[in-house]
Amino acid sequence: MKSILKYLLFVVFNISPLVAVFPDAIGENGAVTSSSKHASQIGIDVLKNGGNAIDAAIAVGFALSVTFPNAGNLGGGGFMVIRTSSGEVRTIDFREVAPENAFRDMYLDENGDVISGMSLYTAHASGVPGTVAGFEYAHERFGTKSWNYLLRPSIQLATNGFELSFRDAMYLNASRSFFLRDKESAKIFAAQDNYSVGDLFIQKDLAKTLRRISIGGADEFYKGVTSDMIVQCMKRTGGIITKSDLANYRPIERDPITFKYRDYTFYSMPPASSGGICLAEILNQLETISFDSVGFHSTNHIQPFVESERRAYADRAEFLGDTDFTDVPISTLISKSYAEIRFSDYDQYKIIPSSDMGPGEIERYDESDETTHYSVVDKWGNAVSVTITLNGKYGNGIVVDGAGFLLNNEMDDFSIKPGHPNMYGLVGKEANAIAPYKRMLSSMTPTIVDDPEDNLFLVLGSPGGSTIITTVAQIAVNVIDFGMNIQDAVNAPRFHHQWLPDLIFFESDRFSSETLSNLSSKGYELSERKSIGEANCIQIGSSGIKFSAADSRRAACALAY
Ligand code: GLY
Repeated sequence: MKSILKYLLFVVFNISPLVAVFPDAIGENGAVTSSSKHASQIGIDVLKNGGNAIDAAIAVGFALSVTFPNAGNLGGGGFMVIRTSSGEVRTIDFREVAPENAFRDMYLDENGDVISGMSLYTAHASGVPGTVAGFEYAHERFGTKSWNYLLRPSIQLATNGFELSFRDAMYLNASRSFFLRDKESAKIFAAQDNYSVGDLFIQKDLAKTLRRISIGGADEFYKGVTSDMIVQCMKRTGGIITKSDLANYRPIERDPITFKYRDYTFYSMPPASSGGICLAEILNQLETISFDSVGFHSTNHIQPFVESERRAYADRAEFLGDTDFTDVPISTLISKSYAEIRFSDYDQYKIIPSSDMGPGEIERYDESDETTHYSVVDKWGNAVSVTITLNGKYGNGIVVDGAGFLLNNEMDDFSIKPGHPNMYGLVGKEANAIAPYKRMLSSMTPTIVDDPEDNLFLVLGSPGGSTIITTVAQIAVNVIDFGMNIQDAVNAPRFHHQWLPDLIFFESDRFSSETLSNLSSKGYELSERKSIGEANCIQIGSSGIKFSAADSRRAACALAY
């Protein structure tokens, strides 16, 4: 069967078997790809047992809280884009919010200077978690299987343990000193001096928390025993999240950011994520040029790409923030006419330094390195694109007393002081200043793409902080403009520019020295990175076959059946 599907791959994508890397998993019915083999397997099992993509996405999400605590979470938040089999697209924003006692200058000392590390490594770094409420909302709105059924496999994994992979053990060992800062965290994540491949990792407290949530739902987490534990943790660590912060948390269903790129329709995340708007800005600018006779990763590919990225990120810093608190000129920013004007000063022979490149002029203001991404498609054509995070790897490193889960350090995604870079080097201003109950601006870009005939085509997303948006943009262009299959598109080397710092980041040893020296001679400063992103994505062929791709950069797992 697999060889027939591989043959179809050649026919559908017209690619040579000599150059293409097959997607990791191919199936007629359903597909799941995530950062954890346990989580992907749980998702596939839900699909095989008649659950839809939303059911599977919820089960995968809870499983990641057990097997991928770097970013999978109960104590963080995220975003979900859902496309139903009828083609309707909705998004769920379960981003953390600033606690009621948060205030604009809370990370500054009496001289107005940023207190180093406070927005990242202390109890003050946590926003009110959104994940449990977000999953419950998705379940009530679109799910078909019982809530209890979707949590059961994760409870079992936490109770009985799972064998650590090389990557799991390596991450735990590398973060040991980070865990030792918090006694509750140390008990769980630094219980052994050293972890090895195959060690059984059991999380009894987390199992109890998941069991309580499976019985009492989000109400339990936000108003019940778990909420008391969070407040107790705040007392122990000096944090500011209150019972009423938790009781008042609400996920928000929003319209997607919708735009076309070369006749393909993109649906992505609106604020509180900057992902959809910046993705639209980048691709709209690129649409003003053609890649038809341009070599992949030649200077003529990379230069206009990074120039569109710089302009989008300059706008991000100026205009984007939580739309409940600040007016964001969304329809202007994602329009084709704005992209044309914004890109009109691009000259391949005359590079404008970022210091001279401000945000675009918006006349009308009156309009209405650790995260994880997974994608799911079911046999009916429902698709879900989910990105969740604690922000930094293992969040702020503080485990809620007796509850077994880590808290986020998402408050750092606010502009804690105008122009002060966050942990990803992103800067911001008033639009993303801290205020009680406000959502901090994200770069998460869960995205779904329909083909020109309005059929489901791609389910995209990635972790990677500020690089998420440019990773998604490159994968889309790799498929649409350069004709790659999804696995090749995901595996292809990545570059990134975010306006400030004024650098082109590129993955080490993966670009030709000719292209790099061309870019350098044009005046660009280049900076190497070991790797960028972990995009776990799905492509749907014209015959409805699902191609599930796990990013080769890390030990992700794609499955299909
Ligand atoms: N915490 C990274 C982001 O939301 O973009």
